[in-house]
Amino acid sequence: MTAITREPESDVDSMFIDRWSPRAFLPDPIPAHHIRMLFEAARWAPSCNNDQPWRFAYAVTPTAREKFLSALVERNQAWARTAPLLILALARRAFQNSTTINRHAGFDTGAAWMSLALQARRLGLYCHAMAGFDATKAHQVLGTSEQEYDIFAAIAVGRRADPSTLPEPARQRETPNSRKAAALVADEFT
Ligand SMILES: Cc1cc2nc3c(=O)[nH]c(=O)nc-3n(C[C@H](O)[C@H](O)[C@H](O)COP(=O)(O)O)c2cc1C
Repeated sequence: MTAITREPESDVDSMFIDRWSPRAFLPDPIPAHHIRMLFEAARWAPSCNNDQPWRFAYAVTPTAREKFLSALVERNQAWARTAPLLILALARRAFQNSTTINRHAGFDTGAAWMSLALQARRLGLYCHAMAGFDATKAHQVLGTSEQEYDIFAAIAVGRRADPSTLPEPARQRETPNSRKAAALVADEFT
């Protein structure tokens, strides 16, 4: 098997490399003030026109988490059910107090999620985003409308557990992955 390198090609703050998406989570609850810090980090993300289109719905109680889990595809449910905090990341489709569609809402919500994920690492937590969920089901659970909001991701958050706690095939995949070459990321336009 090829060894996976998570070596940067240039100097970069280690926080960017330290963030990765495990699947093995401890069920230990996250203190409420740490949860508030995650959303505070998200809150300060930049956004088009400072519209702040993101909205994070979160579940910590067993009943609420079960409802969020019901919207996930089975292969994500299998590992995400252990995480003590589940989040659904929504973005308002139109600018506030307007019917004009905000085509940057996904970009802005992505920035907010990354802020949340980096703050999580500062607290010793890990986040794992998921596209594997049924958006219609998630809207039903939340009582939100597809006309008003896009749901971009579900996110599992918690402390890492030993990979041996995972069901297969997730157990085998519990390693930080690598990236395409830096040369493929940015092109100087001349
Ligand atoms: C929007 C989004 C959707 C993702 N969907 C899933 C998913 O449904 N299931 C899963 O196991 N991982 C999912 N991932 C995790 C990615 O596979 C992971 O972020 C990527 O391989 C990079 O690895 P890293 O986050 O460990 O650096 C998703 C990540 C993002 C950002």
